[in-house]
Amino acid sequence: NANANDDLKALIRTIPDFPKPGILFRDITTLLLNPAGFAASIARMADATHGPIDLVAGIEARGFLFAAALASPLKAGVLLIRKDGKLPGATIAEDYALEYGQDRIAMHADALAPGARVLLVDDLIATGGTARAAIRLLRKAGASVSQAQFLVDLPDLGGAKLLRDDGVDVSALIS
Ligand code: PRP
Ligand code: HPA
Repeated sequence: NANANDDLKALIRTIPDFPKPGILFRDITTLLLNPAGFAASIARMADATHGPIDLVAGIEARGFLFAAALASPLKAGVLLIRKDGKLPGATIAEDYALEYGQDRIAMHADALAPGARVLLVDDLIATGGTARAAIRLLRKAGASVSQAQFLVDLPDLGGAKLLRDDGVDVSALIS
């Protein structure tokens, strides 16, 4: 049912001209403030996950919230993918393109065993640049990444399709 998550969609607000003029920013902080809405989001993301998962990889910053909450129902650990320079141990990193310029994300080089089954989680996918860099990073470390979960997909920006082209089963509650 295409309208199954309309209750959650109603908890997200749109802020015009953030962070730049012309951008319609989908703000999930209002969903996080709603106890039933946040709990239902996590339950539905857990339901959409198939097969055993060893680690849930969350992308800084808002992705951490969803990854941490999913770890318990999925009986998985949490792997942090952070902006470069924040992790204390030896890291591996990947660059990715932003609308203007570049950024770099990193993970601990010893965070996973080869073949670990990793679910990638973030609050939102737009161009997919961030998620694709995270998948490159996880696969470089030896992970098996076959699924990614997002609360929100912005389909006009094409990121989910690019991830699917990379062989990842992408699921989002809200489009
Ligand atoms: C947002 C969002 C995703 C990414 C999606 O994070 O949480 O991680 O952008 O955009 P993309 O698909 O075009 O790459 P942001 O970089 O704003 O970081 P934050 O969570 O730390 O605010
Ligand atoms: N909302 C939140 N994060 C984002 C958005 C958005 O509309 N676009 C890119 N990252």
